[in-house]
Amino acid sequence: MLQTDRLVTDFAADVRRDLALAPKQLQSKYLYDALGSSLFEAICRLPWYRITRAERRLLEQRAPDVIARLTRVSADAVPLFVELGCGSGEKLVILAEALQTAGGHGRVHLIDISSQALEQSERTLGRLRHFSVVGHRETYEVGLRHAAEHREDGNPMLVLLLGSNIGNFDTPAADGFLGEIRRALAPEDFLLLGADLVKPERDLLIAYDDPLGVTAAFNRNLLVRINRELGGSFDIDAFAHRAVWNPAAQRIEMHLESLADQAVTIASAGITVRFARGERIWTESSYKYDESQIEQMGIRAGFAVAEQWIDDDARFALTLFSAI
Ligand SMILES: C[S@@+](CC[C@H](N)C(=O)[O-])C[C@H]1O[C@@H](n2cnc3c(N)ncnc32)[C@H](O)[C@@H]1O
Repeated sequence: MLQTDRLVTDFAADVRRDLALAPKQLQSKYLYDALGSSLFEAICRLPWYRITRAERRLLEQRAPDVIARLTRVSADAVPLFVELGCGSGEKLVILAEALQTAGGHGRVHLIDISSQALEQSERTLGRLRHFSVVGHRETYEVGLRHAAEHREDGNPMLVLLLGSNIGNFDTPAADGFLGEIRRALAPEDFLLLGADLVKPERDLLIAYDDPLGVTAAFNRNLLVRINRELGGSFDIDAFAHRAVWNPAAQRIEMHLESLADQAVTIASAGITVRFARGERIWTESSYKYDESQIEQMGIRAGFAVAEQWIDDDARFALTLFSAI
């Protein structure tokens, strides 16, 4: 079976299962078709979504420190960079250029479920001299396993999980995922984790429900995707974007709220789903942390904290963990 066919089959099975849950759900990884990835890039440019600019600032300031750590054992080492959910790849370029400036070479493996994101990041990283670039259109877990097969003794591996991608995992799942990353690494390897911090509710809400409606389009595009790829009959106008701050769970939740009593058929999933007016589909969680919660997550997974850098303006943390 072609890889694309397998992903479509998973999509139909996941939609069938998740729309039968109470409350109804759809997995956030399905937000990123070609249009979804483009809309996400637009979100990163919105004045209210500050994660991307904050993380870039930190990387621009700290890239030489990260490279110094990676090449501490041997200046001739050829590091293996593995970015999980790389998006445009523009953040990894900052580190790769710092390695180049220090006279080094590297290898890059990019992992993203979105072919659009992968093509863009391969183009972005492909501009670098002295770097080999391999893309994997896979989920994080499968892509990580494939990339880790290219680890070589004596050449350190750095896994990057940026853009607060970790925030899409519930707490037990985040622990499990960081544990999986740790098991793919050897002592002297590193994980660079970018994670968003708790901040005032109004700042969080406007970041996920912006006045231009770009985040709403990003969320509602999931229904457009189901209509196109799975033969769905969603009336897009009959669902509204909702962003909610759940303070007890420390997460922003994105939902799609049905504006009427209605039934939707999804041919490839073989289902008809009924919605009551006001009923919601939960499409994404974005957990927010304090500094020590991020450190503890890494420590529970078997890492030591090497460095933690904070952007106080946007309240964002970049944490370098070493595998021990
Ligand atoms: C929030 S964006 C962040 C992109 C980039 N890391 C950044 O910092 O701008 C998440 C990226 O991860 C990808 N992604 C989401 N869930 C994924 C999964 N389960 N497996 C692989 N890629 C995933 C998406 O396609 C998207 O490109």
